[in-house]
Amino acid sequence: MPAVIRLTLNQESALSGVQQLPVLGWEIESRNRNVRQTAYRLQISQDQDFDNILLRGEWQESECSNNIPLTELMLTSSQHYFIRVQVRDNYGETSGWSSPAQMITGVLYPHEWLADFITAETSADKDNSHATLLRKSFVLNRAQDIQSAFIHVSALGLYELYLNGHKAGEDALTPGWTSYHNHLLYQTYDVTGHLEKGENVIGAILGAGWYKGDMGFSRHRNYYGERSALISQLVINYNDGSQEIVISDESWKGQDSAILFSEIYDGEIYDARREIPGWCTKDVSGEGWRPVSLVTHEKSTLVAQGSNTVRKMAEIKPVALITTPQGDTVIDFGQNLSGWVEFRVSGKAGDEVVLRHFEVLDADGNVYLDNLRTARQRTAYVLKGEGEEIWHPHFTWQGFRFVKVEEYPGQWDLNNFTAIVLHSAMEQTGHFACSNPQLNQLHHNILWGLKGNFVDVPTDCPQRDERLGWTGDAQIFCRTASYLMQTRNFFAKWLTDLRYDQTPEGGVPHVIPDILTGYCGKDRLLSEGGTHSASAWADAAVINPWTMYLMYGDTCVLENQYASMKGWIDFMTAHAENHIWHYKLQFGDWVALDAKEGSYFGATPNDLTCTAYYAYSTQLFAKAAKVLNRTEDYDHYHALYQAIVRRFQEAFFTPSGQLAARTQTAHILALYFNLVPDEFRQRTTDTLVELLNEHDGHLVTGFVGTPYFCHALSQNGRTKEAWNLLLKEDFPSWLYQVKAGATTVWEHWDGIKPDGSMWSADMNSFNHYAYGAVGEWLYRVAAGIEADEAQPGFKHFIIKPLTGGGLSWLDTRYQSIYGAIGVRWEVSGQTVFLNVTVPANTSATVVLTDGQSVQEADGIDFARCAEGYTAEVGSGEYRIEYRLV
Ligand code: BGC
Repeated sequence: MPAVIRLTLNQESALSGVQQLPVLGWEIESRNRNVRQTAYRLQISQDQDFDNILLRGEWQESECSNNIPLTELMLTSSQHYFIRVQVRDNYGETSGWSSPAQMITGVLYPHEWLADFITAETSADKDNSHATLLRKSFVLNRAQDIQSAFIHVSALGLYELYLNGHKAGEDALTPGWTSYHNHLLYQTYDVTGHLEKGENVIGAILGAGWYKGDMGFSRHRNYYGERSALISQLVINYNDGSQEIVISDESWKGQDSAILFSEIYDGEIYDARREIPGWCTKDVSGEGWRPVSLVTHEKSTLVAQGSNTVRKMAEIKPVALITTPQGDTVIDFGQNLSGWVEFRVSGKAGDEVVLRHFEVLDADGNVYLDNLRTARQRTAYVLKGEGEEIWHPHFTWQGFRFVKVEEYPGQWDLNNFTAIVLHSAMEQTGHFACSNPQLNQLHHNILWGLKGNFVDVPTDCPQRDERLGWTGDAQIFCRTASYLMQTRNFFAKWLTDLRYDQTPEGGVPHVIPDILTGYCGKDRLLSEGGTHSASAWADAAVINPWTMYLMYGDTCVLENQYASMKGWIDFMTAHAENHIWHYKLQFGDWVALDAKEGSYFGATPNDLTCTAYYAYSTQLFAKAAKVLNRTEDYDHYHALYQAIVRRFQEAFFTPSGQLAARTQTAHILALYFNLVPDEFRQRTTDTLVELLNEHDGHLVTGFVGTPYFCHALSQNGRTKEAWNLLLKEDFPSWLYQVKAGATTVWEHWDGIKPDGSMWSADMNSFNHYAYGAVGEWLYRVAAGIEADEAQPGFKHFIIKPLTGGGLSWLDTRYQSIYGAIGVRWEVSGQTVFLNVTVPANTSATVVLTDGQSVQEADGIDFARCAEGYTAEVGSGEYRIEYRLV
């Protein structure tokens, strides 16, 4: 009998704060093979037991089990909804009802926002990075009749909200970072259990955050506004259907907090002596607190977040206490991460704990802070002196593995320190292990690069004075990230901001949310070159939505981004000359090793990089137009794509088929983006291998060439070279970093050079996910779990594993939206044992590229094909044995 084991709304099992009807999806489990769903029905209720059913769906004859729009329901604000599903399969068997997925609605219409934005700050606070307190006392006479209570809350700045002393939700750094003037997220929390009869108190702490804090490498404050402000609307639903609403308004009171300073880059200073015990409970009267004032902010910008808030995702205990040669006391957490240090301490009032957070020790084993540039990453806590005190910061986070303890009173005990890992809450979907421990460590590093940099927006790095949503980095890493974690909602949010921050002509800012425009006068490159529209960076506007479509099969993101995608293609067209695209400042093959001494710009000419991406993005956009049935657009952009390719070939290939630019990256792009005339493909591949051999098998590529290097080789018959490149151990290579003890991926191949010295401190992050983009090769090629764009979201997919690299086994699982896809191969002599798992209601094409003969097919009907053997399989687990060529 089939069972529905995972029901999701927008791919999440629960949504807290819903403004638009989500899409529904589920995973089916069955012991049978070749299971297909033939029909489903759903029910929606406002109670978990489904006693009062709002919508009783009829059986629908359909194979569709994901991305199903919930169209028939009229939602009401501030309500709980439960949804369940039952399915029937091609064996004629019917499942039981699934466990319900649930959602809480937000404030559905702008006019329902009765609350106002309020602040305890004045314009004199514009240069302050302290946090303020806000509170409101109110009386509930009918608490026993409360059916449910939800609070919808957001801030200009960062907030923590409390009800009668209990923190609402477990999120951190809310409401996150968006293009605030267009798109401000609010969070919705179920606070039913926190309300009492009689007096109740709501309290909030507000910090500067991205909104008014000191941001960007040119450092400027108040990009969005000068005063932090809170908006909060508590909706209490009574059993008799009536409602009571408590809103933020001028009746609230304000006060200074114990957080004297809090900044994203610089850390936090907290004086516990200034705490007001019980400030957010009825134990405090609020007497002496100051009045608050209203702040104007367009309420139609408020959008429910629903999921993927930043949270405490893990705790890590120290692995060592070090005294450096210079005599500093340093705690090693053994893992480069983003988050906080939480500590316990006892001492006298006025004693201090002061911590500096950093990534690496220098060659002599001393504290290395230089690569943080101006980011101080310092937290300071002043004790109140009342027994054991436990503290972590609130409105900042640090990127670190090591912590220098500058002050700490009393007895040393490493157990008093814990690193709290923060990142956007996403489900891990990729699992990888193999017989090569260094490759496993590389996978670990890539995963931790994601964790460290998916802190609400996809950032370049989490430690120095950037932490910005650099579009290029997010574009390069998007596919890898989407194998590792369920990124649909994370990227949908960020792409919304990309859309809002795009220039009227369709140009795409270098960072999203854009805080560089208008503030880069001091920056040499950006003051001249502008703050938008660099090839490979701006192409995130097209590549990321398309990747969401491939990985999750969902057309919503494509629909929402369609105009933005088109805007970007049209921008390029407007600035192209005879289809060769180039525009102002280009980052090109950023930080490639073939750059001139002291330069960040790799040797591949910009015209080539730009035109290659112009072709690629135009092709993807034409495909998107086709998916969305925009036939005219498809015809137009497909023809444009063909014209760009023709022009690329004319402009960059010699008549005899040589690429004029003799760089690895030029050859990689031409091959991977299919810009090579068929008759020159072999030659182009051979030259790429030559260019590799000129460096003894090493890459010299930067941000643009690196992600596709292994693909360009393995797609063109050079599988041995692809494996060798991946597994190179000496500088420059991925495993060089691993061998040097990296726990995340470095920004530079030579972040730490073989002689122990460092790359220039002005640009030397040790947690930069960009080069981790090779992760997708592990999933798509080594394991061979590849999406099929004709049936995206892994409804149908390809399993085409590639043994090699001297690995005796490799084991990979990708949790697709239909269920776990598994590939395990084991090589013993000339025999390969291949285990494959295909989820119910999906199918796959299995291709054995290096198979000479199939010994054991486990019921699969393999046929000879040009590549080796191929077969179509339905769901189930299969064990195949074949002999290598
Ligand atoms: C960032 C990069 C980014 C680049 C753009 C750097 O400062 O850290 O990752 O893409 O600038 O050139």
